[in-house]
Amino acid sequence: MVAKVIPVAEQRYPDNGAHIPAVLEAPTGLLADTRGRALRDLRISVTDRCNFRCVYCMPKEVFDKDYAFLPHSSLLSFEEITRLARIFAAHGVQKIRLTGGEPLLRKNLEKLVEMLAALRTPEGRPLDLTLTTNGSLLARKAQSLKDAGLTRVTVSLDSLDDAVFKRMNDVDFPVAEVLHGIEVAQQVGLGPVKVNMVVKGGVNDSEIVPMARHFKNTPVILRFIEYMDVGASNGWKMDEVVPSAEVVRRISAEMPLVEAEPNYSGETAARWRYADGGGEVGVIASVTQAFCSDCTRARLSTEGRIYTCLFASAGHDLRALLRTGRSDAEIEGAVAHLWSRRGDRYSELRTINTEGLSTSRPKVEMSYIGG
Ligand code: GTP
Ligand code: 5AD
Ligand code: SF4
Ligand code: SF4
Repeated sequence: MVAKVIPVAEQRYPDNGAHIPAVLEAPTGLLADTRGRALRDLRISVTDRCNFRCVYCMPKEVFDKDYAFLPHSSLLSFEEITRLARIFAAHGVQKIRLTGGEPLLRKNLEKLVEMLAALRTPEGRPLDLTLTTNGSLLARKAQSLKDAGLTRVTVSLDSLDDAVFKRMNDVDFPVAEVLHGIEVAQQVGLGPVKVNMVVKGGVNDSEIVPMARHFKNTPVILRFIEYMDVGASNGWKMDEVVPSAEVVRRISAEMPLVEAEPNYSGETAARWRYADGGGEVGVIASVTQAFCSDCTRARLSTEGRIYTCLFASAGHDLRALLRTGRSDAEIEGAVAHLWSRRGDRYSELRTINTEGLSTSRPKVEMSYIGG
């Protein structure tokens, strides 16, 4: 019998390294990529593990008991993460989102939140410090996260119907506990809570209107996400994508919606308000209406690689710089070098070719670099 070879992420995905330029210039906060896009958001994945096995993200067949998650020695320490976050803030990052996997599985995460909450922009403002969670541990952790300085949370929830939800999370996790987590988060002041629902045609699209109805007239901002061809495990097919226009049409038929202005440039969600004043919903149409043209997001993987696109196949190893004693100025130079060469616009290119882009390179999993 041939032994199953299980490469860990460091070997599974290619790494393009991080180049330190010969001339080091001090960060100005005005870094732009080849398409004129600034660097404003940093998404930090703190673990590649999750206690759910959502069918569109970590399907059980792939993420089984033999799957090799990163060993603890590979992970960036909180000190290393904070040092990089400080360097990114110097380059203009104003928002940090902690992701995973499931970020609340990382031990003592509150400590990291506390360290990140102490960072300031070059103008002296605190960063917007938020977190995306599946909500399973939220009720237990909301208060300590708030006390540590977290600004707000986004909770993933794909259905209100227990049977449908369990079919999607694939670990028999009940809806009620996630709803309780959302409630506690609001009570402790982590609002406005956003709820993200990935819509997979034929699986949970029957839940679009019930979810809208449930969160209407509440402070929760519900957002519907088009199912994306991210990673290589979920067997994505275009005909399982429910276009955001269809989502808006279905809700509007029962509860009329009017278009609202974006909160900020580069927002992933298009906003819609209930005509009767019952609050708002958002749609994230990365498949049918790509938003690459003002994408200001960089992603830091659990073991310290920077990815300049959710669909990138290779990252840039900053951990190697951290662990070989490079100075802040050198690492700032490396970040400037890679961002100024960035040209990624995967979703835009996929919109042109709706069957997905065939690529011989492996795409990284979303559970590895975060949503
Ligand atoms: P706010 O700060 O609350 O506005 O959050 P956000 O709009 O950044 O949204 P969030 O982090 O909650 O992301 C929502 C979802 O949008 C993610 O789970 C992804 O499915 C999708 N998404 C976020 N960023 C990107 C991106 O850069 N590219 C693509 N294609 N999809 C993205
Ligand atoms: N398509 C769209 N969103 C996805 N997410 C994970 N996988 C996908 C996918 N295939 C996002 C969801 C979830 C977050 C953790 O990651 O928004 O809420
Ligand atoms: Fe876990 Fe979130 Fe992926 Fe679901 S979508 S498997 S909760 S990381
Ligand atoms: Fe940004 Fe890449 Fe997503 Fe486009 S596909 S919005 S470039 S992360």
